Amino acid sequence: MYVRLLCVCLAVVSAIAADADNCKLNGDQESASERAVLERLAPLKNMRFETTHEEYTYKFVVCGGVNGSKSTYDGLIQNKTAKSEITVVGRINDTTVFNGTDWIMLIYGSGEQYDSHCGKEPRKAMIMISCNKKTLASDFMIVHEERDKSKECFYLFEMDSSVACPVEESHLSVGSILLIVFAVLVGIYIIGGFLYQRFVVGAKGMEQFPNITMWKELGNLVADGCDFVCRSQPRSSETAYRGVGDDQLGEEPEERDDHLLPM
Ligand SMILES: *[C@@H]1O[C@H](CO)[C@@H](O)[C@H](O)[C@H]1NC(C)=O
Ligand SMILES: *[C@@H]1O[C@H](CO)[C@@H](O)[C@H](O)[C@H]1NC(C)=O
Ligand SMILES: *[C@@H]1O[C@H](CO)[C@@H](O)[C@H](O)[C@H]1NC(C)=O
Repeated sequence: MYVRLLCVCLAVVSAIAADADNCKLNGDQESASERAVLERLAPLKNMRFETTHEEYTYKFVVCGGVNGSKSTYDGLIQNKTAKSEITVVGRINDTTVFNGTDWIMLIYGSGEQYDSHCGKEPRKAMIMISCNKKTLASDFMIVHEERDKSKECFYLFEMDSSVACPVEESHLSVGSILLIVFAVLVGIYIIGGFLYQRFVVGAKGMEQFPNITMWKELGNLVADGCDFVCRSQPRSSETAYRGVGDDQLGEEPEERDDHLLPM
């Protein structure tokens, strides 16, 4: 009985802890697509980023609190460097997230209220995460603070991450699989044949190449076939040309013979 109660208590406590330490999507009803985008951010969870602009330093944690204390939900804070004055810009208990083909927009609402600007509404942090395959997360910086409106003001940040990249399925076509199989078989044939010729038959030099005579014959056949198919001039002119070569070759020894005879 006590054990069961303890279990229930632990479950409740851990559920609360998980919630306090995680992005909570805003609105009464959670959308499945928003949940899916949030899951894509999982590899970045609890990563800390910092950027300085003029007299302010901004600290950002992906779905986690900047300050250790969990109840504040401070996902993005502004720190006025000289005065160590901290303003919470956005909280993780008020998260909105959506994506396009190669970017993810993460928004933390429910920040501290403006003193006089923007109709004293709560601050809001928008973080634009752009696809960059080369990095898990980098180049966090502030783009702009919009506060010259009567409402819907925001702090805009940007960063690069591979999690924002479109998911590529590596699909090998049937053709490329067949090509790979063929290449592997040719490789096995050449290496296996080489080893056989060298160590079993005891061949040397070119003879180590498997079935060398067959391939030579095949090469000749292919050459003949190509000769037959590709040549535009009739065969006779080609023989005539070769004839010239043959004649010249044949003449030389004859000439030499001629020189030799009188001696
Ligand atoms: C964390 O929060 C406490 C209490 O709200 C505050 O005193 C402290 O300065 C904060 N620390 C940082 C690093 O924000
Ligand atoms: C988030 O938490 C803060 C501080 O605890 C609270 O003031 C705010 O109303 C909360 N926002 C939402 C949407 O729950
Ligand atoms: C958002 O990301 C999902 C994958 O999680 C993708 O299927 C969808 O096409 C993306 N949305 C847009 C508008 O590109």
